Amino acid sequence: MKKKKVNIAVLVSGGGTNLQALIDAEKSGIIESGKISLVISNKADAFALSRAEKAGIKTAVASKKELGQAGMEERISALISENSIDFLVLAGFMCILSQSFTKQYDHRIINIHPSLIPSFCGEGFYGLRVHEAALEKGVKVTGATVHFVNEIPDGGEIIIQKAVTIPDGSTPQSLQKRVMKLAEWKILPLACELVSKKILNGEI
Ligand code: GRF
Repeated sequence: MKKKKVNIAVLVSGGGTNLQALIDAEKSGIIESGKISLVISNKADAFALSRAEKAGIKTAVASKKELGQAGMEERISALISENSIDFLVLAGFMCILSQSFTKQYDHRIINIHPSLIPSFCGEGFYGLRVHEAALEKGVKVTGATVHFVNEIPDGGEIIIQKAVTIPDGSTPQSLQKRVMKLAEWKILPLACELVSKKILNGEI
């Protein structure tokens, strides 16, 4: 009998390199307890959607610009029920989800953040800004964190972290690439498998 898998939806906004890491990890068997069955973007022109289509994964758009915060969340909730989604992965999703939304999906949403939480995180810390702040502070080590999503931006329980050293002469752009390559693309698939397995086994 074929083993049951949890149904995963990945939420994206941009280039989708983290989504690609998840797609590749499912292909190679690193993710075996879950299946990526839907990719939702808040932006219709996100390149991440092309990556999903290329991999044969169903896509949908939930635009905050067109629907507003509540409308976007209603659309995401509808997509979750229509597609029997068990678990949401935020992979470069640039919208903050409201408390009423996150409360409905306790321990069912994870996010990747490009720093070692609790450093350089919370509202306003996204994209290049995170790496600019690390360089401004002069820290010698940064990294990435995968955590559960709750009502506090970047405040939920930590699942996996990976540290990355900061070479002299780094720029926000070079550091962003380094953190993605050495940390984000590795720990997001691992966390995805870990949480999928726990959901399957009824541990969370
Ligand atoms: C990543 O740095 C992620 O940590 C952050 O946004 C970026 C998304 O990149 N939240 P991509 O769309 O996965 O390429």
